[in-house]
Amino acid sequence: MRALRMLGSSVGTKIILAFTGLALFGFLIVHLYGNLLAFLGPASYNEHAHELISNPLIIPAELGLVALFLTHIVKAIGNFGKNRSARPQAYGVKKWAGGPSRKSLASTTMIFSGLAVLLFVVIHLKLFKYGPVYTDAVTGNRDLFRLLLDDFHKPGYVVGYVLAMLIIGLHLRHGISSATQSLGIVPESWTMQVLRGGMALAMLMAILFAIIPIAVYFGVIR
Ligand code: HEM
Repeated sequence: MRALRMLGSSVGTKIILAFTGLALFGFLIVHLYGNLLAFLGPASYNEHAHELISNPLIIPAELGLVALFLTHIVKAIGNFGKNRSARPQAYGVKKWAGGPSRKSLASTTMIFSGLAVLLFVVIHLKLFKYGPVYTDAVTGNRDLFRLLLDDFHKPGYVVGYVLAMLIIGLHLRHGISSATQSLGIVPESWTMQVLRGGMALAMLMAILFAIIPIAVYFGVIR
């Protein structure tokens, strides 16, 4: 009972947001690996995708992913609402607090960048997971590589994806370091290092994801 009450408290909410956020980040690393295989050509890309799709554990893994997304979103919106009602009028002036403060453009816009990422994920699933199904003539497996080429030869999609990756980078910039500290994974004296590390990781993820549509568009992936 006490544990349940604790999870509903502000501290509990922070811990749940941190845990689900880091787990989603783990998914992104695996997903990035799969997508970077596109640089090795269609066989590697499609084979990896086929191994994932045909694995019997894919359904429980996808249900787990949906549960993580939903919990993260519900808790984030609840937290935003609570903070709003605790301080109904917005700050007149927003100033960086200096030193090891974690206040930044990223930290003050988390709800908006988060909702933009949600919108991106819905569009992304429609384009790829539930998009046109091409079949590889040799293996008979789904040809996701061909879909990748189709989509990212359209300049609008490339620009949209690169913008989405910038927003995801912004969300991760605050999210990674904030989650690390909420869960108390590293000592308090490492605040600056955690902030810098979070920022570097977020930039790296955004750049590596954004490189894929750009590389397809300019014929590096073909
Ligand atoms: C250039 C960047 C990206 C490319 C090329 C890409 C490509 C793909 C492809 C081909 C699939 C379908 C896989 C299948 O049907 O099994 C997929 C699924 C998915 N992608 Fe991405 N993706 C990218 C970035 C992202 C990002 C940044 C996110 C999250 C913020 C994301 C979230 C997802 C999710 C949740 C799925 C469904 C996974 C599942 O149900 O198994 N993707 N992506």
